[in-house]
Amino acid sequence: MKVTRMTGTIGAHITDIDLSQPLSAEVRDALIRLWHEHLVLVFPGQTRLTPQAHIDFARLFGELEVSSSLNSFSHPEHREIFLLSNEVKDGKPSETRDVGWQWHTDLAFSTRPARGSILHAKAIPEAGGDTMFANMYVAYETLSETMRGLLSQLWAVHDNANSDWHAVRAMGAKSAIVEEFIKKNKPVRQPMVRRHPVTGRESLLLSECFVRTIHGMSPQESKPLLDYLHAHATQPEFVYRHHWQTGDLLMWDNRCTMHKVVADHDDKPSADSGNRLRVLHRVTLLGEEELGVELAPQLP
Ligand code: SIN
Repeated sequence: MKVTRMTGTIGAHITDIDLSQPLSAEVRDALIRLWHEHLVLVFPGQTRLTPQAHIDFARLFGELEVSSSLNSFSHPEHREIFLLSNEVKDGKPSETRDVGWQWHTDLAFSTRPARGSILHAKAIPEAGGDTMFANMYVAYETLSETMRGLLSQLWAVHDNANSDWHAVRAMGAKSAIVEEFIKKNKPVRQPMVRRHPVTGRESLLLSECFVRTIHGMSPQESKPLLDYLHAHATQPEFVYRHHWQTGDLLMWDNRCTMHKVVADHDDKPSADSGNRLRVLHRVTLLGEEELGVELAPQLP
């Protein structure tokens, strides 16, 4: 196994390893150490990995999120696989077409934000559709002591209803599954600073996708601080940008990173997908702790 760092702050490529084959406990432990050190691991060219082998690999690292039913968000045969696709079927855009187009950390709208995510590229557009990852330890550590002290007392309201469902809007109405998803996931408050349970390092927990307010503040009061923190956290020095190839598998630590899709590949929801097709399978590792606190729904 060969390890190559991708930037000064985040990301490593791991080559000379075939994830479709069973891994020894020694290799698994080495991968966990690398994951905690580099936050995002890139395994290029894992084209032999089947959906079942993807799930088996993910199980080596913890408990998985399993969709409560087979629906258009999940793989038709595997409820552990969340389907990220922009495939147009019967003239309709996929409901997950624009998932992740804004900075976020997975499942932060729930009481149990994801520990990690493992994403496998099945179809990649001819151009565009990269994914960017920000190191939220460094984002936190480079703030002033006064700002760190202030943020450590604050909670942000993460509400799935805030996320921008472009594709859903394009269809004219929210589908029953999206409605159910929003209803099931009530707004939660999450600490703005969290401590990683393994490394002990503190990091910022933000989400451009789900957060509009800091708990106890108005949207107008919250926005300038949130805007500042997003700009600070996503400066190029703290970011790794992955240019996908079919077969790439990425594994990231959601407890100290956030990520977003660069949505430059897909601007017309109902047009012929053609060479803009982007299909990825995500298996999500559940967080080990109940971090968020459920809130009453916010008044509009
Ligand atoms: C995600 O937000 O988990 C999806 C990232 C991607 O599609 O690249």
